[in-house]
Amino acid sequence: MPGAIYAEGLVKTFGDVTALDGVDLDVPEGTVLGLLGPNGAGKTTAVRVLTTLIKPDRGRAVVAGIDVLKKPNEVRHAIGLSGQFAAVDEYLTGRENLRMVGRLYQMGAREAKARAAELLERFHLADAADRPAKTYSGGMRRRLDLAAALVVSPPVMFMDEPTTGLDPRNRQQLWEVIQELVAGGTTLLLTTQYLEEADHLAHDICVIDHGRVIARGTSDQLKARTGGERVELVVHERERIPDAVEVVRAFGKGETTVEQHTRKVVVPVSGGARLLAEVIRELDVRGIEIDDIGLRRPTLDDVFISLTGHVAEAAAVGGEEREGALS
Ligand SMILES: Nc1ncnc2c1ncn2[C@@H]1O[C@H](COP(=O)(O)OP(=O)(O)OP(=O)(O)O)[C@@H](O)[C@H]1O
Ligand SMILES: [Mg+2]
Repeated sequence: MPGAIYAEGLVKTFGDVTALDGVDLDVPEGTVLGLLGPNGAGKTTAVRVLTTLIKPDRGRAVVAGIDVLKKPNEVRHAIGLSGQFAAVDEYLTGRENLRMVGRLYQMGAREAKARAAELLERFHLADAADRPAKTYSGGMRRRLDLAAALVVSPPVMFMDEPTTGLDPRNRQQLWEVIQELVAGGTTLLLTTQYLEEADHLAHDICVIDHGRVIARGTSDQLKARTGGERVELVVHERERIPDAVEVVRAFGKGETTVEQHTRKVVVPVSGGARLLAEVIRELDVRGIEIDDIGLRRPTLDDVFISLTGHVAEAAAVGGEEREGALS
C-alpha cells in the first residue's frame, strides 16, 4: 500500500529548466521524510506539486489516499502547508490571522479563538498577538505562518524550510513541536538545507539535486554509504593548508575538503586511531602546526559532498564561504 504521501515519476519544467526530473517518493504514514537538497534542487517545486499548487507535466501523486491531480480540493482539506515564504495577512494581527484560518476550516468561533490563543503561546507570539503582522520580524512571521499551518491538525503536513530564519532557540522549539505532531500520527514532508535538521527529525531522507533523487535512506544508511570515519584537522597557518592537504590525501579514502575560513581540512579514512597517530606524525615531520585534530563519524554534510561533489548551499546562506571538494 502506498504511503500517506506518494509520488511517481514527477516531472515539471519551467521553460528550459527541468525543476523535477522524474521524482518518486513514498512516505509511510506517521513518519517524516526529509527532502534535502541545495538551492534550486526542486524541493519547493515538489512541495507545490504535492500540495496541488501546480500541476506536474508528468507523473502522479497520491496524498492522504487522494489523487492529487484528480481531486485537488479534497487533498487541500487533508493537508497543512507551511511554505518557504510566510503567507500571512500583513494587515491582520497574529491572533486574527490564526482565527481566520480556523474559521476557514469551519471551526466554531470559540474553538478558533481558543486554538489561536494556544498556538500564539506555543510559538512565543503571545506578547505580539494583537499587533498587525506587518510589524513582525522575519522570525516572528515564520512562526506565525507555522502556527497557521497547525490550526487544524491535518493528517499530512508539508513544511518547506520551516526553520530557515529562526534563531537556535526557536528552531529547537519547532523541532519539539514537530516531534509531538509526528508522535500524534501526522505524516510530514519537510524540506531543509540543514543537514543536521534532517538528521534530527526525519525517519527517511531523500537527497535531490537538479530535480532528481540522488540518494535515499535513513540518516544512518546514508552515512554508511559515505564510508567510515573522517580525520578533521585545523591548520594553524593558512599558508600551510596546501601542505596539510597533501599529507592527509595520502591517507585518505575519498575526497579531501577544505574550509578556508576555518582552516579546516577533512578527509575520509579507514584505520581509526592508529591512522590518526600516523597523520599527526607526518604533519609533525613536515613542521605543519595544527590547532586541532580528531576522528569523527560522517555527517550528512559529508554525505552530500560525496554524492554531489559539492557542499549543500546552506553553508553559504549562513554567511560562510566554503571551498568545494578538492580531490
Ligand atoms: N515559477 C517558476 N518559473 C520558472 N522557473 C522556476 C519556477 N519555479 C521554480 N523554478 C526553477 O526550478 C528550479 C527548482 O526550483 P525550486 O524552487 O523547486 O528549488 P528549491 O530546491 O526549492 O530551492 P531553494 O533551496 O532555493 O528553495 C530552479 O531552477 C528554479 O529557478
Ligand atoms: Mg525552495
